[in-house]
Amino acid sequence: MIPGHTNPLPPALSEVQPGLSFSLSAGQHLEDIFTDPFQSTSNFQESFQALLRTLTARDPATRHHCHRVTQQACRFARFLGLPEKDLKILGTANLLHDIGKIGISDAILFKPSRLTAEERLIIETHTLIGEKLVEHLELHPEETNIILFHHERWDGKGYPQGLGEEEIPLLSRISALADVFDALTSHRPYRSPFPVRKALGEIQLQAGKQFDPHLAQQFIHMVTSCPHNASHPSAPHPAHLRKSRIRARDTSSPMLSR
Ligand SMILES: [Fe+2]
Repeated sequence: MIPGHTNPLPPALSEVQPGLSFSLSAGQHLEDIFTDPFQSTSNFQESFQALLRTLTARDPATRHHCHRVTQQACRFARFLGLPEKDLKILGTANLLHDIGKIGISDAILFKPSRLTAEERLIIETHTLIGEKLVEHLELHPEETNIILFHHERWDGKGYPQGLGEEEIPLLSRISALADVFDALTSHRPYRSPFPVRKALGEIQLQAGKQFDPHLAQQFIHMVTSCPHNASHPSAPHPAHLRKSRIRARDTSSPMLSR
């Protein structure tokens, strides 16, 4: 039970606990999650699972993205030595961090090319829609903050509130890094996935701009020191991530992820 949490943790958290070994492709299939009998019939768990099912039906790619971000955010929190309660908050909230996208029209959500400025403004409302959609769950405030603030930026140019630096809750700053790293290394209709090296280069470039600079460095350190990533052919040695060695793409876009 999370302190201040009035409901038991959702069964979906077992996907990232223990040992953060969850992987959709490693033994557990999405369908299994929904055919398993619920451990509890509480309103919270039923509502939580219903939201996940809705997201799966509407936008399976975003559902998978939410799982990977959850895994990466929890892994990062453990790397940082954060307490278990923070991992649970990250686990619950990140599974639903993009739930608000179910309120975005197909024409924008599934647009096979880059969004216009007007369309971007519309999709940015997914943080506010998400906050509304989880209102009845009575989440821990820090969980709601992740859903609401995972697109805020360190330099204050993010959304929805334009918070800056440590005004942005720590767990939201952690989630932002996990979110963008997954977005960059995933396929998009309008571009190929970035190799790990290139994605970490983007994060390095955005340290102190989009991301908390200290957390960005720690995230890069975590990814580059992970045995799994180290074996990735595109994974760089940390010393190779100096700005002078990075071929940066045009980062004039205010956000690295939708
Ligand atoms: Fe998002």
